[in-house]
Amino acid sequence: MAVIALKCPEINVTVVDLNADRIAAWNGPLENLPIYEPGLSAVVMEARGRNLFFSTEINSAIDKAEMIFMAVNTPTKTEGEGAGMAADMKYIESCAKTIAEVAKTDKIVVEKSTVPIRTAERIKEILDHEGNGVHFEILSNPEFLAEGTAINDLLDTDRVLIGGDSTTSGQKAVQELVDIYAHWIAPEKILTTNVWSSELSKLASNAMLAQRISSINSLSALCEKTGADINELSKAIGMDHRIGPHFLKASVGFGGSCFQKDILNLVYLCRHYGLEEVAEYWHQVVKINDYQKNRFAQKIIDHFGGDLTGKKIAILGWAFKANTNDSRESPAIDVAAKLLRAGAVLQIYDPMVSKESIFRDIDFYWEASKINELKSRITVLDSMSKLDFSFDAAALLTEWQEFKNLDFSNQLVFDGRGILSSSFYSIGKG
Ligand SMILES: NC(=O)c1ccc[n+]([C@@H]2O[C@H](COP(=O)([O-])OP(=O)(O)OC[C@H]3O[C@@H](n4cnc5c(N)ncnc54)[C@H](O)[C@@H]3O)[C@@H](O)[C@H]2O)c1
Repeated sequence: MAVIALKCPEINVTVVDLNADRIAAWNGPLENLPIYEPGLSAVVMEARGRNLFFSTEINSAIDKAEMIFMAVNTPTKTEGEGAGMAADMKYIESCAKTIAEVAKTDKIVVEKSTVPIRTAERIKEILDHEGNGVHFEILSNPEFLAEGTAINDLLDTDRVLIGGDSTTSGQKAVQELVDIYAHWIAPEKILTTNVWSSELSKLASNAMLAQRISSINSLSALCEKTGADINELSKAIGMDHRIGPHFLKASVGFGGSCFQKDILNLVYLCRHYGLEEVAEYWHQVVKINDYQKNRFAQKIIDHFGGDLTGKKIAILGWAFKANTNDSRESPAIDVAAKLLRAGAVLQIYDPMVSKESIFRDIDFYWEASKINELKSRITVLDSMSKLDFSFDAAALLTEWQEFKNLDFSNQLVFDGRGILSSSFYSIGKG
């Protein structure tokens, strides 16, 4: 929304959220915006107060808007039918109900959240049944940005996808959204499709990307058994133009709020339509990711003979990747949890993830009775200079630039991100 405001100065963009603290932070100092993203503060600085506004006044923003983007969270369901797999649609549904209740004039409603296929049908049902008789047109406009490179991805995108109904009013709405993106995106990169293709493209795209990571990670296990080097393998296969070099770097596994939840959602959808084999095929991408995270932590434990009691381990990196402060589903959480279970004492450092977020991530993982004992074995550092280098081993878990220049001579380092050397999981001193 900030980028749309930047590129379309004649359009007023109002971002509303139920979370008042977040909105306050968006209106606060540029160095404390809720999301760390290279280039974002400059965009906000230019547009905020001009045609970009952040507010908790949800009803009045709906009332005034001609077009409403729904970008609420769609996490994995934790209870009820499909728990642990299907997307939880309660935020989308409650958002649609608010729009239906408040809207007194025709609106275009855009699905920006990642949603299961045929969600537009459900949104339309709510809007039409609970609305005030005004006309709603639903568009699907999934977001393909990647955290860490979001601003560049938005300014110089591979494609913008817009799905809409084939009716005259549907196509008119599609054109209105095309006109917004056309302020800075070349026409050949704006793809229009039917709503269902657009909705499914986002899940399919994330599934294909994650599949590449799980594919190379599964081969890293075979390399370690056979003496092949996974980085040499990646290079050799990536030079085939049909395969390409991107997303072929072996690692401790993917994280983030999207890949796992979107693939599980896809798996659930396939099961729902009775496609058990297809469901199992995609489920394997998530299973290999869990295997890889577990395998990495187990390697550290095995190195010390199966017990880490009293061993001092430094966890370098908590964000699920570099250039973001997002740690949702970060492999660091699973690795740290497994090391703690084996008795380790941890120093944790990440350049952007706050101490509060790190403790919150750990809190989620454990039953309340164990949390105090565990926390007594964790120190979170606010600066790399505070790292006590007398650790028994370090685990490099985020590819922050800051870690690439460290001198680990004579230290035992488990490299989960291929940061240090040409060899994945380069274990050893010096
Ligand atoms: N994070 C990404 O990189 C990314 C990329 C592409 C797509 N997506 C999709 O975008 C959606 C949002 O992701 P996110 O990472 O920003 O989630 P998030 O949880 O960080 O943010 C969602 C926000 O929606 C607010 N909200 C919930 N219900 C609301 C309501 N009824 N009215 C107003 N505000 C409400 C919440 O308070 C929260 O601040 C998800 O569907 C996700 O899959 C995310």
